Amino acid sequence: MTNKSVSAIYPSLEDRLVVVTGGASGIGASVVEAFAMQKAQVVFLDVQDGAAEELKERLGAMGAKVPVYYRCDLTDIEWLQRAVASVIERFPAIHVLVNNAGNDARHSVDEVTSTYWDQAMAMNLKHQFFMTQALIPSIRRAGGGSIINMGSISWAIPSTDVPVYATAKAAIVGMTRTFAHILGRDNIRVNCVMPGSISTERQKRLWLTEEYKAEVLSRQALKRLILPDEVARLILFLASEDSSAITNQSYVIDGGWI
Ligand SMILES: NC(=O)c1ccc[n+]([C@@H]2O[C@H](COP(=O)([O-])OP(=O)(O)OC[C@H]3O[C@@H](n4cnc5c(N)ncnc54)[C@H](O)[C@@H]3O)[C@@H](O)[C@H]2O)c1
Repeated sequence: MTNKSVSAIYPSLEDRLVVVTGGASGIGASVVEAFAMQKAQVVFLDVQDGAAEELKERLGAMGAKVPVYYRCDLTDIEWLQRAVASVIERFPAIHVLVNNAGNDARHSVDEVTSTYWDQAMAMNLKHQFFMTQALIPSIRRAGGGSIINMGSISWAIPSTDVPVYATAKAAIVGMTRTFAHILGRDNIRVNCVMPGSISTERQKRLWLTEEYKAEVLSRQALKRLILPDEVARLILFLASEDSSAITNQSYVIDGGWI
C-alpha cells in the first residue's frame, strides 16, 4: 500500500469469500492483499505458482488472512470450470468475484491472425464470462454479492497498438451492463473498472520507458503514475456494502487521462 493511513476498513468485507483471477502479480496481487487486509477470505487463480506462494507468505507474515491459491490457466474453460467446482466445494457461498486477469501484449493490425484473435479474446474477455457463469449459483447461495470486471481505458483513448485487446476491453463494458440486468434480481451487482496506465512491475519492465512515461504524464491531469493499490481501493469499495446501490457502471481510474 502507498499510504495505509488513507485506507478505509469495510466491516461488510470481513469474512467475505472473494475470488480474484490473475491474483499472483500486478494489480491482482494488490487486490488480493487489499481484501486480505479487510479480513476477507480470498481465493485466487493464476498460473504463476512461485509468485502466488510468495504473495501468500508475505501476507501471512503481515498477519493478514492468508489467501488460497488455485493454479488455473483461465484460457482453458474446462480447467476454469473444474477449478471453480473445487473452490465451491470448499467455499460454497462466494460473495465477490474480481475478473482481473488480462494481457495487453502489443500487436499491430497486420500481425493479427485468426488464431491470435481467438487467443487474445480468450485471455481478455472469454474467461470473464465463464467465471461469472460458473460462480452465479454460489453468489446466489450467498444471498447476493458483487462482481467487478477489469476493463481498461484503452478503447476509449483510443490506443492504436492493441486493437484486439482494446476490442475485448470495450466488450467488457457491454458484458457488465448485460450481467447487471440479468443478475440484479438476485441482489448481485456487476460493475466494471477501467484503469489507465498503472505502474505494475510488468508495465515498468515492458512498456513504461521514460518516453512512454512522459506521454502518460502529459495526458493525465495528475502528474504522477497511478499505483496498483489505488485501483485495489476502488475495487474494495465496489465489493463492499458501502456501494450497495451501485451496479451497471464502469469506473475510470486513470489520473484524469480521459
Ligand atoms: N497495468 C495497467 O496499466 C492496466 C491498465 C488497464 C487495464 N489493466 C487491466 O488490469 C488487469 C491486470 O493487469 P496487470 O497490469 O496487473 O497485469 P499483470 O500481467 O501484471 O498481471 C496479470 C496476472 O494475470 C495472470 N495471468 C495471465 N494469464 C493468465 C492465464 N491464462 N491464466 C491465469 N492467470 C493468468 C498473470 O500470471 C498475472 O499474475 C488486466 O485485465 C489488464 O488488462 C491494466
